[in-house]
Amino acid sequence: EQALIKEKPLAGLKVLVTAGPTWEALDPVRYLTNHSSGKMGYAIAKAARNWGAKVTLVHGPTALPALRGVEDQPVTSAQSMAEAVFSRASESDLIIKAAAVADYTPVETASEKIKKTDGEFQLTLKRTQDILKAVGERKRDDQVLCGFAMETEQLLARARTKLASKHADLIVANDLRESGAGFGIDTNRVTVITASGEEMLPLMRKEDLAYELLKRCLAILKEKREK
Ligand code: CTP
Ligand code: CA
Repeated sequence: EQALIKEKPLAGLKVLVTAGPTWEALDPVRYLTNHSSGKMGYAIAKAARNWGAKVTLVHGPTALPALRGVEDQPVTSAQSMAEAVFSRASESDLIIKAAAVADYTPVETASEKIKKTDGEFQLTLKRTQDILKAVGERKRDDQVLCGFAMETEQLLARARTKLASKHADLIVANDLRESGAGFGIDTNRVTVITASGEEMLPLMRKEDLAYELLKRCLAILKEKREK
């Protein structure tokens, strides 16, 4: 990693990264969330900073320390993550959405603690906004948008569908069933999907994968800007 830092291939570029889970409140003491640790997104933000970019990290609640030299924008719910991303998307050159955004949120958040009663308890959820898709729909030709796809089955077919439906330039496909990939750990094994094909990357540390992903985002940005 040290050797790479001397180069600043992202100098002059603005990079927006999202990371971590979201918390969807049920009441003042409870929330719905997922197992995202934020490690992949933080590694990308750090690598982009090391490569000379001006970086903003919009992140849900994580146990990770803030990154020096990175604009830190903590959020909680999917809605607050959406607002933070939408307000910064148009000024960003690269937008990398590594966050594990909740797909559903409670229809109502109780203002007081929900008390237990006998019998079953029904929770009604509504869809959150798809942030990646909304950004993709407004994306300009001089911006690169990278999303992630996490699946437990039919990884590549579904990731290809996400590339198209979200108007992303790259989808980083993660198989939760692969050993060495997934939540909370320091390594990942991914396939990068773009309009020109698929590239399966070897198992690597999230810190190293971050540079590999940035390299590919930058190549697409240059290609777009040369046109
Ligand atoms: N994403 C998002 N906003 C949401 C849900 C997902 O921006 N409300 C983004 C994630 O940050 C990720 C990508 O969409 O970059 C794919 O997330 P994933 O959960 O794999 O796919 P979904 O489109 O949510 O579909 P599903 O969960 O049904 O597979
Ligand atoms: Ca989802």
